[in-house]
Amino acid sequence: DPEMVAAGEKVFKKCKACHQVGDGAKNRTGPHLNGIVNRVIGTGEGFKYSKSMAGMADEGAIWDDEALHAFLENPKKYVSKTKMAFAGLKKEDDRAAIIAYLQSFE
Ligand code: HEM
Repeated sequence: DPEMVAAGEKVFKKCKACHQVGDGAKNRTGPHLNGIVNRVIGTGEGFKYSKSMAGMADEGAIWDDEALHAFLENPKKYVSKTKMAFAGLKKEDDRAAIIAYLQSFE
């Protein structure tokens, strides 16, 4: 849905201090987010994750829609001791829009 993607691009401004996505995206404070939807958690190449996020990778947990909603609503509740210092997106619509936006990058 192109309208959701456009809305997600706006909400993504809240993430840009730490994350890049799209052509030429690089790891910064956070990993770049190309290809994140449906990938195994904590497996971005060349990024040093917290132990708690790396542990989820060991279990093969996936960033599906449900996991992304839960993490983005309350990062520390979903991944205890994550080093992502972000309060979360309380509005379900904002989370859905961001996920649609991220889904648009392979
Ligand atoms: C990790 C999304 C805001 C720093 C992640 C991951 C996602 C994500 C999906 C997991 C990456 C993976 O498994 O490869 C977002 C979104 C944001 C946001 C959509 C905005 C709504 C931020 C902000 C910061 C940040 C503002 C910095 C203050 C990090 C860090 C990690 C991370 C450091 C790695 C976490 C760890 O190793 O525990 N983010 N993020 N993020 N993010 Fe964010």
